[in-house]
Amino acid sequence: MKAFVALSMFLVLFSCNALVSNALDTITANQSIQDGESLISAGGTFELGFFSRGDSSKRYLGIWYKKITVMTLVWVANRVAPFADRSYALRLTSHGSLVLLDGNGSDIWPLNLPILPVRNPVAQLLDSGNLVVIDAEGSDPNNFLWQSFDYPADTFLAGMKIGWNRTSGFNRYVTSWKSIDDPSPGDFTFQLDPNGYPQFLLKQGSDIKFRTGPWNGLRWSGTPNLNPNPYYRYEFVLNEEEMYYRYELLSSSVIPRMMLTTNGLVHQFAWIDRTQGWALYLAEPIDQCDNYATCGVYGSCRVDNSPLCRCLKGFVPRFSQEWDILDWSNGCVRRNPLDCEKDIFVKYSWLKLPDTRSSWFNGSMNLQECEVVCTKNCSCMAYSNLDIRDGGSGCLLWFGELIDIREYSAYGQDLYIRMAASESALLPSHQKKHKLVMGLAVSFGSVFLILVLTLGVLQCKKRKMKLPEAKRDSFESGDNRENHKEDLELPLFDLSTVAIATNYFSTDNKIGEGGFGPVYKGVLRGGQEIAVKMLSRNSTQGLHEFKNEVLYVSKLQHRSLVKLLGCCIEEENLLIYEFMPNRSLDSFLFDPTQRKQLDWSARFNIINGIARGLLYLHQDSRLRIIHRDVKASNVLLDFEMNPKISDFGLAKSFTGNETQANTNRVVGT
Ligand SMILES: *[C@@H]1O[C@H](CO)[C@@H](O)[C@H](O)[C@H]1NC(C)=O
Ligand SMILES: *[C@@H]1O[C@H](CO)[C@@H](O)[C@H](O)[C@H]1NC(C)=O
Ligand SMILES: *[C@@H]1O[C@H](CO)[C@@H](O)[C@H](O)[C@H]1NC(C)=O
Ligand SMILES: *[C@@H]1O[C@H](CO)[C@@H](O)[C@H](O)[C@H]1NC(C)=O
Ligand SMILES: *[C@@H]1O[C@H](CO)[C@@H](O)[C@H](O)[C@H]1NC(C)=O
Repeated sequence: MKAFVALSMFLVLFSCNALVSNALDTITANQSIQDGESLISAGGTFELGFFSRGDSSKRYLGIWYKKITVMTLVWVANRVAPFADRSYALRLTSHGSLVLLDGNGSDIWPLNLPILPVRNPVAQLLDSGNLVVIDAEGSDPNNFLWQSFDYPADTFLAGMKIGWNRTSGFNRYVTSWKSIDDPSPGDFTFQLDPNGYPQFLLKQGSDIKFRTGPWNGLRWSGTPNLNPNPYYRYEFVLNEEEMYYRYELLSSSVIPRMMLTTNGLVHQFAWIDRTQGWALYLAEPIDQCDNYATCGVYGSCRVDNSPLCRCLKGFVPRFSQEWDILDWSNGCVRRNPLDCEKDIFVKYSWLKLPDTRSSWFNGSMNLQECEVVCTKNCSCMAYSNLDIRDGGSGCLLWFGELIDIREYSAYGQDLYIRMAASESALLPSHQKKHKLVMGLAVSFGSVFLILVLTLGVLQCKKRKMKLPEAKRDSFESGDNRENHKEDLELPLFDLSTVAIATNYFSTDNKIGEGGFGPVYKGVLRGGQEIAVKMLSRNSTQGLHEFKNEVLYVSKLQHRSLVKLLGCCIEEENLLIYEFMPNRSLDSFLFDPTQRKQLDWSARFNIINGIARGLLYLHQDSRLRIIHRDVKASNVLLDFEMNPKISDFGLAKSFTGNETQANTNRVVGT
């Protein structure tokens, strides 16, 4: 018996050599592959064969990268039923089923394979890593009778659909290995959850560990790093028949690998030839805020908060004692209770959208229709756009409490949450201001209003007159003097308003030092975030720049230029800008970790924006201006990483038809 086995092993090895040298990628009916033989895909990318791991003698049938020196498995056929020895074989039956035969010739295949009515079945290992069975006499070579991509192990290859056939209810998902050397199914799964609007859930047993959030047309709401890029195309398909996620390679130079590790992390790698290793370029969950429901219901997690969790605006901790000792699990409750009919919807920005397992959606409704539907149903707690591309479309509604919310400083989404009417202070400032002005007009009469306005204007003028002369340089032309008068259009802020917004110019709120003084972050009562530049009192140079900035920035309107919201010239000279959450470009470019966030499309977008801003300054604006200090630290980034040129303290204007101007001061860059 032993001699027979040895002989057959010899024959097997011999024929195996023959196979390998011919690099077969197919087997036909009644043919088999023995332990020791393998199939190699046509382009030589993948290999199918038998293997064992670590010290174990257990044998498995699997697929791995052929070209890569480190044995990296992408699929295992018999994860739950390892072979005891080397006597097993993979065979294609004459009716098109792949079977695994033990030494006695009995079928032990762990997967249920249909018996197929085919005349000439062929099993082929494709260059995508997919082992397929096709009918060689069939008309469509892409009509797979069976494919290994339907039974993923822990690896999610390019072209693989992860998700559901909605007709049959068949679900494809990845399951981690038990350990590095044990391919049997571990505790973790990563699968598309079909409840409400679909999202991926990373689970350990039945516990949710991480949620990608719903697909927004570009990426999952909770995976801001997974943006469109030149190497991959990510796709989420949802129709009557199917719902699945898939990625495709756009560049053949990349060898990708996405997998679920034994300790429950979704890792995305690329093979680096130079180092002969896998480089990790994406991991999920990535930080504490990714852990499911870290901050409980209506709590919001933000990694740069300390502590991590805060209640959303208008909410308070359910149990403040627990909250104070950093136990956030019970989350937050409304400050003011809802009253169905009278409720309002308040916009919260830059979020990872809450758990959508109890949501409802309609892809053809717009945001207004969405609000109407949500308003009508008192158990509808929030709504948002389904797709954020092209200004947003579709409708997503949440029923029940909102959970697992986090806040991003870039690539977050807007969510409109149902709030009590008494929370109207949370509405955006432009709506509120409108109401305020109306109120004033009604209660005090327009005469009084005009009086107030006139006084304000006079005061502004007076302050302006008191500013020491700085009329050299950019104040010289008549053009500019005219603007000097006009700049009174700029809204005036009370010093007290700005002081309250910036927590009385506390050092905690200080975010930097501008050309002529400190810069503070603040939040106006309506919730609008602002940046406040303060002119140092003893700087005459600064005063010149301050006036310059007021003159120019208030005149200029372009999306690539920072927007001045107003000024204050009471005790302090202040400039109030819109707040740029991503700070300045230099903080990204010159920081080794931040730098990685700037992929090529982001960089291109920034360069383009700066160029458009400069073109506007030099050619298209009514005031033609040379900035004279364009540098990375003067390019601010908004929450979507759009660039805004700032700091016009050194700028100089020239008249409409001049193309050259002399400067009599040495200035910035
Ligand atoms: C495969 O084997 C079966 C049974 O021995 C036989 O009937 C059939 O013709 C064979 N098919 C091919 C393609 O050789
Ligand atoms: C093959 O059959 C023999 C005799 O029935 C049995 O002892 C042996 O365990 C079988 N081998 C396998 C791998 O099932
Ligand atoms: C989904 O399953 C049904 C029933 O098994 C099948 O007819 C259909 O082809 C499948 N759809 C896809 C896209 O695989
Ligand atoms: C989605 O909205 C459109 C437009 O309002 C409507 O015609 C359609 O019936 C809605 N679909 C569902 C499933 O409610
Ligand atoms: C509100 O929406 C929920 C969930 O879709 C539904 O069950 C309920 O009937 C709706 N209520 C009303 C009054 O339409």
